[in-house]
Amino acid sequence: MDIEIRAVSADEMDAFIRAVPGAAGLPNWEPEPAAGWSGPGTGSPFGARMSDEEVARYRTEVRELDRTQAAFSDGKLVGTSGVLTLELTIPGQGPVPMGGVTSVGVLATHRRRGLLRGMMRAMLDDCHSRGEMLAGLGASEGSIYGRYGFGPATFQVRWELERSKARLASASASASASVAGGRLELVDAATALAALPGLQDEVRQRRVGQVSAYPGMWIGMTSDRDSAKRFVLHYGPDGVVDGAAVYRLPWSPDPASSGIVQVDLLEASSAAAYTELWMFLADLDLTKRVIAGKRPVDEPLRWQLADTRSLRVTRMSDDLWVRLVDVPGALAARSYQVAGSLVVEVTDEFCPWNSGVWRLDGGPDGASCSRASAAAAPELAVDAATLGSLYLGGTAPGPLARAGRIPELVPGALNRATAMLAQPDAPFNLTGF
Ligand SMILES: CC(C)(COP(=O)(O)OP(=O)(O)OC[C@H]1O[C@@H](n2cnc3c(N)ncnc32)[C@H](O)[C@@H]1OP(=O)(O)O)[C@@H](O)C(=O)NCCC(=O)NCCS
Repeated sequence: MDIEIRAVSADEMDAFIRAVPGAAGLPNWEPEPAAGWSGPGTGSPFGARMSDEEVARYRTEVRELDRTQAAFSDGKLVGTSGVLTLELTIPGQGPVPMGGVTSVGVLATHRRRGLLRGMMRAMLDDCHSRGEMLAGLGASEGSIYGRYGFGPATFQVRWELERSKARLASASASASASVAGGRLELVDAATALAALPGLQDEVRQRRVGQVSAYPGMWIGMTSDRDSAKRFVLHYGPDGVVDGAAVYRLPWSPDPASSGIVQVDLLEASSAAAYTELWMFLADLDLTKRVIAGKRPVDEPLRWQLADTRSLRVTRMSDDLWVRLVDVPGALAARSYQVAGSLVVEVTDEFCPWNSGVWRLDGGPDGASCSRASAAAAPELAVDAATLGSLYLGGTAPGPLARAGRIPELVPGALNRATAMLAQPDAPFNLTGF
């Protein structure tokens, strides 16, 4: 078998797109409503092949051709992958460049022969040569990407809220009522699509873990095969959009699953818009329950409700997997909650330039990281995937240490790392790519 891995040419794009798992039709392994929803994105519904029109749109609007690569076996395209030039918001510093690994697939006839490994080698070398210190991806299965140094770094939940229990606690209700002058407006898709990218761009720069939009990302918002989407905007007192929600009211013949408001997206740049939008969605006439499919694990709404238990989490999953392509560069790029130093031994089999003992000096104003002197004894040991999970502050070192993934070589180092890496909010990402 003669294998070649290289960037695709423009006239190979249709064959590429037809081979991408999302376009070729993945099996639907998510049985419950809203569970498969993964943010504004470009994929077609699970199980369905893309139409010719969708393939054409995908080709013109989504790809960065020079970063779109395929594996060819004896000249036939059998594997797909690509890197999107994105940004990731990291602690203290805002957005930094990130290579977004996407469209990974190998035809069923050619699996388990090392094609993904070869494509990943090329993609991470490409990120490294471009100076992207971080790479990220969303994983179809949890067992695939750890071996390449990716660790789950943001998590998301799906939750449900009964309309009959959606009452604000008195403090939240009076705070909400005191914000005068804001208003909600039901709008059509075109109006919502004119407002959403700007709103999301504003919010994402402040939200650790959030990935930037990319050309064509909002296509997923207009492509709507199962039921009509509805759009509501919130305007602040100054008349500027400071919140938006996209939701559906799917009809069902089954009384148990009728009257459900499915929330695809809710973004808000002000506290008032956030509260008003949720209260609007939770109290629509002829409905009985809200289901939100992709939300942060530390949703503030829970703490605004009179009955905090009424917001019931029904599913939790990882979302963004992070890989430090340049360990010292990435560790020095973020800031740290408290000032401190750490000497860390990193093992990185797939990107060996990262292996070794590193000294990190960091604090709220910035950080530096360089190879430790020969005399400096390592205090903690991590592998690349564990470092990816720690990087955004979404997973504390304690549980990873208890799982045997962070040997503490000098007592006290784990507590110091915990204090330095901690974040006030759980990292969260809404962008599917
Ligand atoms: C996942 C997929 C891309 C793997 O491609 P592949 O060419 O078979 O992978 P490779 O042969 O390069 O395997 C590399 C390693 O990953 C392992 N691996 C690959 N797929 C795996 C899976 N689904 N579960 C667990 N391990 C897996 C292999 O055993 C191998 O391990 P090793 O390095 O220890 O020997 C391919 O199976 C596929 O297209 N699956 C369906 C679509 C999909 O899930 N795509 C991923 C989207 S995020």
